[in-house]
Amino acid sequence: MTEQTLTEQLPADALPKHIAVIMDGNGRWAQERGKARVFGHKAGVDAVKKTVSEASKMGVKVLSLFAFSSENWRRPEEEVSVLMELFVSVLSREAKRLHKNNIQLRIVGDTSRFSSRLQSKIADAEALTQHNTGLVLNICANYGGQWDIVQAVQQLAQDVKDGVLAANEIVEQDIACRLTMADLPDVDLMIRTSGECRISNFMLWQMAYAELYFTDCFWPDFDEQALRDALYWFVHRERRFGCTGAQIHAAQA
Ligand code: IPE
Ligand code: IPE
Ligand code: MG
Repeated sequence: MTEQTLTEQLPADALPKHIAVIMDGNGRWAQERGKARVFGHKAGVDAVKKTVSEASKMGVKVLSLFAFSSENWRRPEEEVSVLMELFVSVLSREAKRLHKNNIQLRIVGDTSRFSSRLQSKIADAEALTQHNTGLVLNICANYGGQWDIVQAVQQLAQDVKDGVLAANEIVEQDIACRLTMADLPDVDLMIRTSGECRISNFMLWQMAYAELYFTDCFWPDFDEQALRDALYWFVHRERRFGCTGAQIHAAQA
């Protein structure tokens, strides 16, 4: 397919504003090759680079990548420590390139549990890219959808206690505006690789009306074409947000 036909089939205004990806299957990818699981995590970094660059090129506004869940601490200590080392080295290596491409990097999650070395790499990379106006790249690390809602509710409870708002007047927006990614649009498209069809405590609130795309491909095999396949699928979905199909067609006419 030529670049021209691709642009025609994926018109910029029909693209998802916010894509969230559960990058799954690194371990199985490695095991299939008779290698240790961590080999798959390292190979997964290339898939991250391809996905970020393609999403940025296509004009997607926000890309959120699930890199480490609040439950992934349950893994063997050695795997967790390789993952942490990988974060440090990738952040150090890639921050400048992201900056050059006008990408704003945010690390979303409870980073207080990370080593001080990693926390300082995170602070440096975020500071370097904070004023960039292109793609917003959220790397969700020690993130959990339930954690996100809990931290919002903690702020809310404090505000009720301080008399800022009344408990019986709380509406959805009062929670939404206290979530970690409150300034960004909700997720339009969620992609999960590796054939698993679950959400695994990713962005629960923000995915309320997301289209869910599952592919059998393991994360290290995900590339530009795989992303375009997902986008092509997405632009053909009819999103109804509770309305009927007829109402949606009338509104589009
Ligand atoms: C996803 O791949 C990466 C992380 C969760 C950090 P996995 O490590 O979960 O790979 P599988 O699912 O075991 O194959
Ligand atoms: C979800 O993958 C978390 C990330 C991709 C970072 P998992 O591999 O941890 O999910 P489960 O445990 O299979 O649901
Ligand atoms: Mg997995």
